[in-house]
Amino acid sequence: MVQGDYPKRFMIKNICCIGAGYVGGPTMSVIADRCPHLNINVVDLNKKRIEAWNSKDLNKLPIFEPGLDEVVGNTRGKNLFFSTNVGESIKKADMVFISVNTPTKSRGIGSGEASDLSWVESCARDVAKYAEGHTIVIEKSTLPVKTAATIKSILNSVKNSFKDTEKSFAVLSNPEFLAEGTAISDLKNPDRVLIGGEDHDAIEALANIYKSWIVDEKIIRTNLWSSELSKLAANAFLAQRVSSINSLSAFCEETGANIYEVSKAIGLDNRIGDKFLKAGPGFGGSCFKKDILNLVYLSRSLGLDEVADYWESVLQINNWQQKRIYKKIVSTLFGNISNKQIGILGFAFKSNTNDFRESPAISICRDLLEERAILKIHDPKVEAKDIEKALENEFSDIDNCNNKKSRDQGGYFVVEKEIEKTFYNSHAVVILTEWEEYKIIDWENFTKNMIAPSWIFDTRNVIDESDFKSNNCNIWKIGNGIKN
Ligand code: UDX
Ligand code: UDX
Repeated sequence: MVQGDYPKRFMIKNICCIGAGYVGGPTMSVIADRCPHLNINVVDLNKKRIEAWNSKDLNKLPIFEPGLDEVVGNTRGKNLFFSTNVGESIKKADMVFISVNTPTKSRGIGSGEASDLSWVESCARDVAKYAEGHTIVIEKSTLPVKTAATIKSILNSVKNSFKDTEKSFAVLSNPEFLAEGTAISDLKNPDRVLIGGEDHDAIEALANIYKSWIVDEKIIRTNLWSSELSKLAANAFLAQRVSSINSLSAFCEETGANIYEVSKAIGLDNRIGDKFLKAGPGFGGSCFKKDILNLVYLSRSLGLDEVADYWESVLQINNWQQKRIYKKIVSTLFGNISNKQIGILGFAFKSNTNDFRESPAISICRDLLEERAILKIHDPKVEAKDIEKALENEFSDIDNCNNKKSRDQGGYFVVEKEIEKTFYNSHAVVILTEWEEYKIIDWENFTKNMIAPSWIFDTRNVIDESDFKSNNCNIWKIGNGIKN
């Protein structure tokens, strides 16, 4: 069906996306690229972020994603625009995507578990205030089941308070399944697109946009609540697989089984599949923990305590995995890391992104700093200021660098630009993110500068043992134990 087959009020020309983050920015860039007939305004309250999206140098976009620079380069200033002009963009829009962050609540009812919906609510109020005519409102943010009902009720009550009979709204859920690091290819070639809603014409208007580059068989239509729950469920299932394999990684280390061999053996079973079976330091990222906490909270609110406990255990294994790696490092270095230098390779929660939200590196580094280690941290994409923020100033080198007494006590970190420097005078180097550059390290050369007995802790299975030559260095690999 082509755009012209729809009733006029469902013909989409102008789109507004509120939230220029890791989801809103790449998603809108790909829609703009695939649908040159649409005008897309991405708006955000964060002026600096918008300036970065508008920077002439495409290497300075606020998000690092392979291929993003090219898509933005093709579309920006033509049919894709970034601004802070929220009201004006909503006014023009036939369709508004809400793609703002929904962090876990840190206070009040549901603190530590429920999602904080204050940003979503304020967006809904803005839409109700500024929208003109008929507007399709789309939940792109991951939201608790039944949030669409809240959005609808806000839109309608604000609309009624303006006594505006011209305005009307349809609300859809259209969760995003992109993974960071592969966002552009995921958006161009998704496994499926999910649209939940009750308003058939609105659903088809959105489906019609995706049909510009995705076959209709991959566009699934469901009711609103199924769509909202499917997003939480998909993330919970993926996280559960990571916790399952991580739990077995510890089992392997105790028994002499090898987690890589086990992953391969079980992954070849078609019913299980080979994805998400890589043992590691625990899952990170903005979604898995938040969405499972949300599922736990919703389950408990529904009186389903056993369901809540089941999903909570996925998070418990994840925390345990991070703690156990830190404890392994301390015990291997004779139970004492005070004032010992340790190199950290990787701070992002996975490779190919500059995102470090909930990265296992944060908790592992904090625990090592608590033990008064001196960390030399390298990451090719996460900026030094972000690492400092994540580890909080009390552990930063900045205040202490001229203060010999504090330095003597250890418990601080420096950010290194060169990988090699993380090895100088270090007792151990810990690989926490699977960046390509860590796979081609000149081990023989770099490890010469370490303090014996020196250790490489490979928590991501980055090292190919046949390439690893070193006279005085030992390797510990996750799920495989000590190698030499
Ligand atoms: C997304 C989803 O929206 C979230 O629900 C999901 O769980 C994770 O992915 P993400 O794009 O990663 O979030 O968030 P973030 O990078 O923090 O971007 C959100 C943007 O919204 C920020 O730039 C923030 O400034 C902006 N924002 C927030 C607004 O413009 N207005 C608001 O009222 C609140
Ligand atoms: C996830 C979902 O994959 C995506 O569909 C959803 O939209 C957002 O949340 P993301 O968090 O960007 O995407 O990355 P993902 O590739 O899922 O990895 C999440 C974490 O799990 C990372 O820390 C990663 O290192 C870890 N992981 C993943 C493993 O430890 N082992 C694996 O086998 C796979």
